[in-house]
Amino acid sequence: MKYSLSSRIIHWIMAVVIIFLLGLGVYMTEFLAKDSPNHLQVYELHKSFGVLAIFLIIIRIANRLIKKAPTLPESMPKYEIILAHLGHLGLYFLMIVVPVSGFLMSNSFGFPVKFFGIELPLVIETNFEHGKIFAELHEIGAYALIAVVAMHIAAVVKHRFFDKPEHDVLKRMI
Ligand code: HEM
Ligand code: HEM
Repeated sequence: MKYSLSSRIIHWIMAVVIIFLLGLGVYMTEFLAKDSPNHLQVYELHKSFGVLAIFLIIIRIANRLIKKAPTLPESMPKYEIILAHLGHLGLYFLMIVVPVSGFLMSNSFGFPVKFFGIELPLVIETNFEHGKIFAELHEIGAYALIAVVAMHIAAVVKHRFFDKPEHDVLKRMI
């Protein structure tokens, strides 16, 4: 049993978008000089793709409610099945918290978010104290997401190369 075609397409589109955003986010906050001439463009690019991630996660959750996930092989140890479900739940949770906190952070600091040039409405009023909380949430959430994605990929590698052939879950997602 495989994941449905729509689930597979959206999984891989989101995997690319999110890994790109994690890399870009770390790059622009840790390595890009504040006075760099393209500082603003890089931040705008991060926000546009971040908003895209919000649209995609809404579609993904709706799709997930319609198309059920295939059950994991019965021969898998119970603890692996529980860990897989907890890991996926954590990924869904962070795929909501991280982009939403990013959006609310920008709005709280008084910046309207642009989606590839289209200005989106402010959803909350300017409040620097709230902005700092959303910034903290965005940062902790993003670094937690890096950790959970790393474990997710490690689990896929483990099941493909160091496990029984029938436990190769990658086949279900390609
Ligand atoms: C899944 C989507 C997203 C991911 C994975 C992501 C990831 C990251 C990461 C890793 C950082 C660096 C850590 C930090 O200092 O916070 C960052 C920073 C930032 N992100 Fe995002 N982000 C996402 C969506 C968004 C959205 C939707 C917005 C706003 C519309 C946004 C705005 C920002 C801003 C303004 C910063 C810089 C914060 C600072 O300068 O301290 N992000 N993001
Ligand atoms: C190279 C990177 C990646 C690989 C190889 C990969 C592979 C997989 C595979 C094989 C599955 C199916 C597991 C099963 O059979 O139950 C899966 C599920 C999943 N992946 Fe990934 N993935 C990657 C990146 C990501 C990223 C970046 C995210 C999001 C942050 C993500 C989120 C998820 C979620 C939420 C599920 C569970 C789907 C569901 O049951 O609804 N994956 N992934």
